Amino acid sequence: MLYIVGIGPGNRKYMTEIAKDVIDRSEIVIAGKRNMESLSENNKEKFYLSADLKEMKNYIIDNKQKDIVILASGDPSIYGIASYIKRELGNILDIEVISGISSIQYAFSAFKLDMNDVYISSSHGRNPNYNFIFMHDKIAMVTDKNIGPYEISQEIRKRNLNYNIYIGENLSYSNEILTITNSNEINRKDYDMAVIILMKIKD
Ligand SMILES: C[S@@+](CC[C@H](N)C(=O)[O-])C[C@H]1O[C@@H](n2cnc3c(N)ncnc32)[C@H](O)[C@@H]1O
Repeated sequence: MLYIVGIGPGNRKYMTEIAKDVIDRSEIVIAGKRNMESLSENNKEKFYLSADLKEMKNYIIDNKQKDIVILASGDPSIYGIASYIKRELGNILDIEVISGISSIQYAFSAFKLDMNDVYISSSHGRNPNYNFIFMHDKIAMVTDKNIGPYEISQEIRKRNLNYNIYIGENLSYSNEILTITNSNEINRKDYDMAVIILMKIKD
């Protein structure tokens, strides 16, 4: 059986009981370095994720008789690895997806904002469709080093729009930083791992 388990934003306290149970029962753990580090000491077989997802796919196929767990950060169904796995292996393996607390959900709680009516998107490893994204009043985005809070605010300014920007860096970790700013004011360029929430300011 192949489990894709959401382990939450990073701090073990946000990992669900079912996630811990499935990980304990599995024989092989597949994860990137940060997610693997959020596990307590164990002697399970480990496979570290690299950019080469095909290598992971072949490894899973070679071990398909075993119980394998893939650790996904946050919730596996929000810009996570679940879509690749379902697409590539869904018709040859039994897959179970276990939900986790997304970094986006965590950010809304940290900033004491409601998630109702939010549009969720991503700049993580992709070029966002800004014109479509900025049609929305309330937006949450996972980001990356190439397209982060600064670059997204530049796109807002180009279109003469105005959003309050809530930036959550290293959420749930001891070095968490919460910043509230505005698309016209943001001038810091380098952020750690961050989620942003955009709230449109109307004239
Ligand atoms: C590939 S996406 C995965 C999102 C994940 N499935 C989720 O639900 O949180 C990775 C991005 O999620 C965001 N992220 C994940 N964990 C985070 C954390 N603890 N603090 C801030 N951002 C985080 C960052 O934007 C990071 O680059």
